[in-house]
Amino acid sequence: MAKTLTIADLKLRAQRRVPKMFFDYADSGAWTESTYRANEDDFSKIKLRQRVLVDMTDRSLATEMIGEKVSMPVALSPTGLTGMQHADGEMLAAKAAEEFGVPFTLSTMSICSIEDVASVTSRPFWFQLYVMKDRDFVNNLIDRAKAAGCSALVLTLDLQILGQRHKDLRNGLSAPPKFTPKHIWQMATRPQWCLDMLRTKRRSFGNIVGHAKNVSDLSSLSSWTAEQFDPRLSWKDVEWIKERWGGKLILKGILDEEDAIAAANTGADAIIVSNHGGRQLDGALSSIAILPKIVDAVGDKIEVHLDGGIRSGQDVLKAIALGAKGTYIGRPFLYGLGADGKNGVTTALEIIRKEMDITMALCGKRLLTDVDRSILVQ
Ligand SMILES: Cc1cc2nc3c(=O)[nH]c(=O)nc-3n(C[C@H](O)[C@H](O)[C@H](O)COP(=O)(O)O)c2cc1C
Repeated sequence: MAKTLTIADLKLRAQRRVPKMFFDYADSGAWTESTYRANEDDFSKIKLRQRVLVDMTDRSLATEMIGEKVSMPVALSPTGLTGMQHADGEMLAAKAAEEFGVPFTLSTMSICSIEDVASVTSRPFWFQLYVMKDRDFVNNLIDRAKAAGCSALVLTLDLQILGQRHKDLRNGLSAPPKFTPKHIWQMATRPQWCLDMLRTKRRSFGNIVGHAKNVSDLSSLSSWTAEQFDPRLSWKDVEWIKERWGGKLILKGILDEEDAIAAANTGADAIIVSNHGGRQLDGALSSIAILPKIVDAVGDKIEVHLDGGIRSGQDVLKAIALGAKGTYIGRPFLYGLGADGKNGVTTALEIIRKEMDITMALCGKRLLTDVDRSILVQ
């Protein structure tokens, strides 16, 4: 097999190993996917300044995100159905992140539950919350995350209703998968995935099934979200969630300066500039394009993070140079997971670390904490 050197290599390997409906679930954006593409494309428009004859010894990518030490400023994004990219996917990814020294964020819509992930990790992870109409269920989720020792709650703001992703509708995406001839074929052509999946009992939404009222089985993500996600969610709700949680709070899904100001006024600890990886409002700006404006508007009041389109260590560095204090990767770690389980997630993180380290040196910086707009061609 050819050497795996880039995130694109991991993507190809994942495509060969993961049944089509789940690979497509990761590799899709809303409608025309223009925002999904722009997230990646806009990074390549930003150019770096090459500097020479600067001492490049003793480099360090270490920094902090919301006061937590990280070996590099790259957390794993919350992603739904991660346990369908690879059996027990959330547990494997959380372990890889812990060993690497970066935060792992567990999605509400995960396959492995909060308790599953807590059982295999020793450092606190972060928990991402979707707010459902059933407030007893939401309160219970918050309490479960607290009981599991999660050190931050990531409240997602940009999915009160689900964006339309054509591939998922065409594929008839569900978890566990349906047994129609098409789905059986997609799985039969991925035998290793099937074997791993047969060995685990975790094949449905672990945080929900058995915890939410009247939900013993949950197959369709879109019908569940249509029924359960609360379209009335407002800034007022952030107050009671913050109070109930009582710990570090990160608001995810900010793409507008006015919303960034409102978010900073809630007293949250950080915001994530994000368009949900281009999966919600197609036609919205890329995350990296709006980042400088948001940093200018609220960067001195609240920690600003970014996700969307990061496919290399260079992309991370560009986001940091433009004022982000931390970044997140979604698909890059999912491709690693699909390609090779826990090792694949580690490979994704290593690829990004190496690219970031070499780029930082060639831009004339030794410490990530010294990186600022001066490394960019203005
Ligand atoms: C397959 C997939 C599932 C996702 N599920 C969630 C989720 O459950 N909750 C959430 O807040 N964001 C979710 N996201 C969005 C990610 O947290 C993140 O914003 C996005 O993936 C970042 O873009 P990137 O994939 O280009 O790195 C998901 C993204 C993907 C690709």
